[in-house]
Amino acid sequence: MDSMTFWDRTAARYAKSPIKNMEAYEHTMARTRSYLREGDHVLEIGAGTSSTAILLAPLVKRYTASDISAEMVAIGREKVWNAGLKNLDVVQAEADAETIGTPPYDAVLAYNLLHLLEDMNAGVTQAYAQLKPGGYFISKTVCLRGKWYLRPVIWAMQAVGKAPFVAFLSGTDVEHVIAGAGFELVETDTHPAGGISRFVVARKPDR
Ligand SMILES: C[S@@+](CC[C@H](N)C(=O)[O-])C[C@H]1O[C@@H](n2cnc3c(N)ncnc32)[C@H](O)[C@@H]1O
Repeated sequence: MDSMTFWDRTAARYAKSPIKNMEAYEHTMARTRSYLREGDHVLEIGAGTSSTAILLAPLVKRYTASDISAEMVAIGREKVWNAGLKNLDVVQAEADAETIGTPPYDAVLAYNLLHLLEDMNAGVTQAYAQLKPGGYFISKTVCLRGKWYLRPVIWAMQAVGKAPFVAFLSGTDVEHVIAGAGFELVETDTHPAGGISRFVVARKPDR
Protein backbone atom coordinates (compact mmCIF):
# COMPACT_ATOMS: atom_id res chain seq x y z
CA MET A 1 0.00 0.00 0.00
CA ASP A 2 1.38 3.44 -0.86
CA SER A 3 1.86 6.14 1.78
CA MET A 4 -0.99 8.31 0.57
CA THR A 5 -3.51 5.46 0.82
CA PHE A 6 -2.26 4.42 4.26
CA TRP A 7 -2.53 7.94 5.65
CA ASP A 8 -5.90 8.59 4.01
CA ARG A 9 -7.25 5.49 5.75
CA THR A 10 -5.69 6.52 9.05
CA ALA A 11 -6.70 10.19 9.06
CA ALA A 12 -10.03 10.05 10.92
CA ARG A 13 -8.54 7.90 13.71
CA TYR A 14 -5.36 10.00 13.82
CA ALA A 15 -7.43 13.17 14.25
CA LYS A 16 -9.03 11.75 17.40
CA SER A 17 -5.87 10.32 18.98
CA PRO A 18 -4.49 12.33 21.90
CA ILE A 19 -0.88 13.57 22.00
CA LYS A 20 1.07 10.75 23.67
CA ASN A 21 3.48 12.87 25.70
CA MET A 22 2.09 16.38 26.26
CA GLU A 23 5.14 17.57 28.22
CA ALA A 24 7.46 16.59 25.34
CA TYR A 25 5.12 18.21 22.79
CA GLU A 26 5.04 21.46 24.78
CA HIS A 27 8.84 21.37 25.04
CA THR A 28 9.09 21.03 21.23
CA MET A 29 6.60 23.86 20.74
CA ALA A 30 8.50 26.12 23.14
CA ARG A 31 11.80 25.48 21.32
CA THR A 32 10.07 26.05 17.96
CA ARG A 33 8.44 29.31 19.08
CA SER A 34 11.86 30.67 20.04
CA TYR A 35 12.83 30.62 16.32
CA LEU A 36 9.62 32.15 14.91
CA ARG A 37 9.06 35.88 14.35
CA GLU A 38 5.76 37.67 13.79
CA GLY A 39 6.63 38.65 10.20
CA ASP A 40 7.51 35.06 9.22
CA HIS A 41 6.12 32.99 6.39
CA VAL A 42 6.18 29.37 7.58
CA LEU A 43 5.73 26.03 5.79
CA GLU A 44 4.93 22.82 7.66
CA ILE A 45 5.35 19.53 5.77
CA GLY A 46 3.58 16.34 6.85
CA ALA A 47 1.29 18.51 8.98
CA GLY A 48 -1.32 15.81 9.57
CA THR A 49 -4.63 17.35 10.61
CA SER A 50 -3.02 20.77 11.21
CA SER A 51 -3.25 20.78 15.03
CA THR A 52 0.28 22.15 15.41
CA ALA A 53 -0.33 24.58 12.55
CA ILE A 54 -3.38 25.97 14.39
CA LEU A 55 -1.25 26.46 17.50
CA LEU A 56 1.65 28.19 15.74
CA ALA A 57 -0.04 30.18 12.96
CA PRO A 58 -1.21 33.01 15.28
CA LEU A 59 2.47 33.74 16.05
CA VAL A 60 3.47 34.45 12.45
CA LYS A 61 2.32 36.42 9.42
CA ARG A 62 1.48 33.51 7.15
CA TYR A 63 1.52 29.72 7.60
CA THR A 64 1.10 26.95 5.03
CA ALA A 65 0.35 23.46 6.37
CA SER A 66 0.89 20.66 3.84
CA ASP A 67 0.36 16.93 3.83
CA ILE A 68 0.39 14.10 1.29
CA SER A 69 -3.02 12.83 2.43
CA ALA A 70 -6.19 14.39 1.03
CA GLU A 71 -8.09 13.13 4.09
CA MET A 72 -5.65 14.76 6.53
CA VAL A 73 -5.93 17.98 4.50
CA ALA A 74 -9.76 17.87 4.53
CA ILE A 75 -9.86 17.43 8.33
CA GLY A 76 -7.21 20.15 8.72
CA ARG A 77 -9.19 22.62 6.59
CA GLU A 78 -12.29 22.06 8.68
CA LYS A 79 -10.32 22.61 11.90
CA VAL A 80 -8.75 25.78 10.51
CA TRP A 81 -12.19 27.05 9.46
CA ASN A 82 -13.56 26.34 12.95
CA ALA A 83 -10.57 28.09 14.52
CA GLY A 84 -11.27 31.15 12.33
CA LEU A 85 -7.63 31.52 11.29
CA LYS A 86 -7.21 33.63 8.17
CA ASN A 87 -3.43 33.35 7.77
CA LEU A 88 -3.28 29.53 7.60
CA ASP A 89 -3.60 27.64 4.30
CA VAL A 90 -3.83 23.86 4.18
CA VAL A 91 -2.60 22.23 0.97
CA GLN A 92 -2.09 18.70 -0.29
CA ALA A 93 1.54 18.12 -1.27
CA GLU A 94 4.30 15.55 -0.98
CA ALA A 95 7.20 16.64 1.18
CA ASP A 96 9.60 16.41 -1.75
CA ALA A 97 7.47 18.48 -4.14
CA GLU A 98 9.46 21.14 -5.97
CA THR A 99 7.11 23.90 -4.80
CA ILE A 100 4.63 23.86 -1.92
CA GLY A 101 2.47 26.96 -1.46
CA THR A 102 4.39 30.15 -2.18
CA PRO A 103 8.08 29.92 -1.27
CA PRO A 104 10.51 31.20 -0.12
CA TYR A 105 9.82 30.60 3.58
CA ASP A 106 11.45 31.84 6.77
CA ALA A 107 11.00 28.44 8.40
CA VAL A 108 10.09 24.90 7.30
CA LEU A 109 8.78 22.58 10.05
CA ALA A 110 8.57 18.76 9.92
CA TYR A 111 7.28 16.93 13.00
CA ASN A 112 7.15 13.13 13.11
CA LEU A 113 7.71 12.96 9.36
CA LEU A 114 11.27 12.32 8.15
CA HIS A 115 11.31 8.64 9.21
CA LEU A 116 8.18 8.11 7.07
CA LEU A 117 9.75 9.38 3.84
CA GLU A 118 11.01 6.75 1.42
CA ASP A 119 13.49 9.35 0.16
CA MET A 120 14.40 11.49 3.17
CA ASN A 121 17.24 13.16 1.22
CA ALA A 122 14.75 14.47 -1.34
CA GLY A 123 12.41 15.78 1.36
CA VAL A 124 15.18 17.61 3.21
CA THR A 125 16.69 18.92 -0.04
CA GLN A 126 13.34 20.41 -1.05
CA ALA A 127 12.91 21.96 2.41
CA TYR A 128 16.31 23.62 1.86
CA ALA A 129 15.28 24.83 -1.61
CA GLN A 130 12.09 26.43 -0.28
CA LEU A 131 13.81 28.41 2.48
CA LYS A 132 15.18 31.92 2.35
CA PRO A 133 18.92 32.22 3.12
CA GLY A 134 19.12 32.33 6.92
CA GLY A 135 15.83 30.42 7.24
CA TYR A 136 15.32 27.57 9.72
CA PHE A 137 14.48 23.91 9.20
CA ILE A 138 12.98 22.55 12.43
CA SER A 139 12.25 18.84 12.73
CA LYS A 140 11.41 16.17 15.24
CA THR A 141 11.95 12.62 14.00
CA VAL A 142 11.19 9.20 15.42
CA CYS A 143 14.50 7.29 15.53
CA LEU A 144 14.02 3.53 15.80
CA ARG A 145 17.52 2.35 14.79
CA GLY A 146 18.19 0.95 18.28
CA LYS A 147 14.81 -0.78 18.51
CA TRP A 148 15.77 -3.69 16.21
CA TYR A 149 13.16 -5.94 17.82
CA LEU A 150 10.39 -3.76 16.39
CA ARG A 151 11.39 -4.48 12.79
CA PRO A 152 9.57 -7.81 12.39
CA VAL A 153 6.51 -6.36 14.09
CA ILE A 154 6.43 -3.41 11.70
CA TRP A 155 7.14 -5.62 8.67
CA ALA A 156 4.23 -7.88 9.64
CA MET A 157 1.96 -4.86 10.07
CA GLN A 158 3.08 -3.41 6.73
CA ALA A 159 2.29 -6.74 5.04
CA VAL A 160 -1.36 -6.36 6.04
CA GLY A 161 -1.57 -2.58 5.48
CA LYS A 162 -1.49 -1.68 9.19
CA ALA A 163 1.77 0.31 9.14
CA PRO A 164 3.26 2.81 6.68
CA PHE A 165 6.81 2.84 5.31
CA VAL A 166 9.18 3.47 8.25
CA ALA A 167 12.94 4.09 8.01
CA PHE A 168 14.88 2.82 11.04
CA LEU A 169 17.01 5.90 11.64
CA SER A 170 19.42 7.04 14.32
CA GLY A 171 19.66 10.66 15.44
CA THR A 172 23.04 10.79 13.71
CA ASP A 173 21.48 9.57 10.42
CA VAL A 174 18.98 12.43 10.58
CA GLU A 175 21.68 14.99 11.30
CA HIS A 176 23.90 13.70 8.46
CA VAL A 177 21.08 14.03 5.94
CA ILE A 178 20.22 17.54 7.15
CA ALA A 179 23.85 18.69 7.14
CA GLY A 180 24.38 16.94 3.78
CA ALA A 181 21.62 19.06 2.24
CA GLY A 182 23.68 22.17 3.07
CA PHE A 183 22.23 23.18 6.44
CA GLU A 184 24.21 24.33 9.48
CA LEU A 185 23.08 22.47 12.61
CA VAL A 186 21.94 24.95 15.28
CA GLU A 187 20.35 22.81 17.99
CA THR A 188 19.92 19.08 18.54
CA ASP A 189 18.13 17.42 21.43
CA THR A 190 16.46 14.19 22.46
CA HIS A 191 13.57 14.95 24.76
CA PRO A 192 12.80 13.19 26.97
CA ALA A 193 16.43 12.10 27.39
CA GLY A 194 16.96 8.51 26.26
CA GLY A 195 13.79 8.62 24.16
CA ILE A 196 13.33 8.09 20.43
CA SER A 197 12.44 11.61 19.25
CA ARG A 198 15.32 13.60 17.80
CA PHE A 199 14.72 17.36 17.63
CA VAL A 200 16.94 19.22 15.18
CA VAL A 201 17.06 22.90 14.27
CA ALA A 202 19.16 23.75 11.24
CA ARG A 203 19.81 26.96 9.36
CA LYS A 204 20.23 27.59 5.66
CA PRO A 205 23.45 29.62 5.40
CA ASP A 206 23.31 33.23 4.23
CA ARG A 207 24.41 33.62 0.66
C1 LIG B 1 2.86 10.62 12.10
S1 LIG B 1 1.92 11.78 11.19
C2 LIG B 1 2.52 13.31 11.89
C3 LIG B 1 1.54 14.42 11.72
C4 LIG B 1 1.94 15.71 12.43
N1 LIG B 1 3.16 16.27 11.86
C5 LIG B 1 2.13 15.43 13.90
O1 LIG B 1 3.26 15.54 14.41
O2 LIG B 1 1.13 15.09 14.55
C6 LIG B 1 2.76 11.78 9.64
C7 LIG B 1 2.09 12.65 8.60
O3 LIG B 1 2.97 12.72 7.48
C8 LIG B 1 2.21 12.60 6.29
N2 LIG B 1 3.10 12.06 5.25
C9 LIG B 1 3.57 10.81 5.11
N3 LIG B 1 4.37 10.71 4.05
C10 LIG B 1 4.41 11.95 3.49
C11 LIG B 1 5.06 12.51 2.36
N4 LIG B 1 5.84 11.75 1.57
N5 LIG B 1 4.88 13.81 2.08
C12 LIG B 1 4.09 14.59 2.88
N6 LIG B 1 3.43 14.12 3.96
C13 LIG B 1 3.60 12.82 4.26
C14 LIG B 1 1.06 11.69 6.65
O4 LIG B 1 -0.04 11.84 5.79
C15 LIG B 1 0.76 12.11 8.08
O5 LIG B 1 -0.20 13.12 8.13
